[in-house]
Amino acid sequence: MLSGLAHAGGDPARGAELFRQNCASCHSQERGQNLVGPSLYSVVGRRAASIADFPYSAAMKRSEIVWTPDQLLAYLKAPRKHVPGVRMMFPGLADEKDRENVVAFLATLGQAPSPSPNAATSQNALSPTRLQ
Ligand code: HEC
Repeated sequence: MLSGLAHAGGDPARGAELFRQNCASCHSQERGQNLVGPSLYSVVGRRAASIADFPYSAAMKRSEIVWTPDQLLAYLKAPRKHVPGVRMMFPGLADEKDRENVVAFLATLGQAPSPSPNAATSQNALSPTRLQ
């Protein structure tokens, strides 16, 4: 996808509102809390279908996506086009600005897992700048 660094302009506060309106019926932002959809805590930087106790579709499991901001922007535009066969019954966010705002908000939900176990305790601060 050619979205480049468009997400840099996203507004997390506006994204939080959009999340409540469009996603919160199926997704929690709390760690470990799965609803109809998997928890989106720390989703940015995580591998698709990586929450062990969530029953993902076969399509999501074999997608081999890593949820970078660009992947999220493409997925949220048209989920079932980006990952054919995915079970997420959501048509997508038509407005590019809305997608950027939602991704900016998702980036505030915890951090991608740190490669170093020793660093884990210092990784709790919200840091939307540390995306990749
Ligand atoms: C009607 C319920 C529903 C809505 C609304 C919904 N989702 Fe989902 N979402 C799901 C389901 C179910 C899955 C798992 C899909 C699968 O395994 O095929 C999913 C998967 C995902 C994933 C992949 C997570 C992972 O662990 O790999 C992301 C990211 C995601 N949704 C983001 C969003 C965002 C952001 C919104 C709002 C703009 C949203 N979803 C709206 C049900 C929903």
